[in-house]
Amino acid sequence: MRLIIKEDSAAVGLWAAKYVRNRINSFLEDNWDEARSAAGKTFNLGLPTGSTPLHMYKNLVQFCKEGSLSFKHVRTFNMDEYVGLPMNHAESYHTFMFENLFKHIDIDPNNVNILDGNADDLELECEQYEKRIRDAGGIDLFVGGIGADGHIAFNEPGSSLVSRTRVKSLATETIEANRRFFQESGVDVPKRALTVGVGTVMDASEVMILITGHHKALALHKAIEQGVNHMWTVSALQQHPGALFICDESSTDELRVGTAKYFKGLMEEHDKLIE
Ligand code: GLP
Repeated sequence: MRLIIKEDSAAVGLWAAKYVRNRINSFLEDNWDEARSAAGKTFNLGLPTGSTPLHMYKNLVQFCKEGSLSFKHVRTFNMDEYVGLPMNHAESYHTFMFENLFKHIDIDPNNVNILDGNADDLELECEQYEKRIRDAGGIDLFVGGIGADGHIAFNEPGSSLVSRTRVKSLATETIEANRRFFQESGVDVPKRALTVGVGTVMDASEVMILITGHHKALALHKAIEQGVNHMWTVSALQQHPGALFICDESSTDELRVGTAKYFKGLMEEHDKLIE
């Protein structure tokens, strides 16, 4: 596991965006012929919503504008979507992704995958999503955020750590945290969502989790300093060989001084990953 500690959320977003750019660009260097062939091999990127990744998205858009990054050979899979919320609602994750990333970059819309929370058969939609990931060759890098209760995607406390994509009833804490977004929208806060499972995330070759703010400090402590526990689903990543946590200073408030010191000491080494 790698823990990158940056000063604030803007620095977290920049580091994360540089890492994503590096992974995409090295994939293209290694697979240029296959990417350009009829089969169209893609770099498969898992993506989150929420306020935490906003800085990362801004930087990715900027890199595309500058020409140091292209999404032409990237296929994306979003983590989750609300059930029953119209796709074009201002708070749907479809809208979020379009507004904050997809409409600004050169991705082929056919390569964008987001769960359909309005599908007639939600279970079938989840099964097919897993199949789409498998057919694409698996996810190369899954980027995620977490809730203050340590949930990853919508894998609420108590979720199976080998869970797959499915319908999930949201925890009270998550519903309350989301209420602010729905106050003026005329619809009630959704109580169910479709989400990739912890097992789906764990299958990715690499997982990068962004954590910012003091309110996530306990979750970060549980994620990396205590045992694997289904009440803090992000802690499953302790068993992932390619897990990266990118955090700001205030989210490290509950870590042992020694833990923070150790990882800060490795920063020069870790910065080589984004050069
Ligand atoms: C929701 C999403 C998660 C996200 C979390 C935190 O629960 N399903 O994927 O990580 O919100 O959001 P924020 O970054 O706004 O704190």
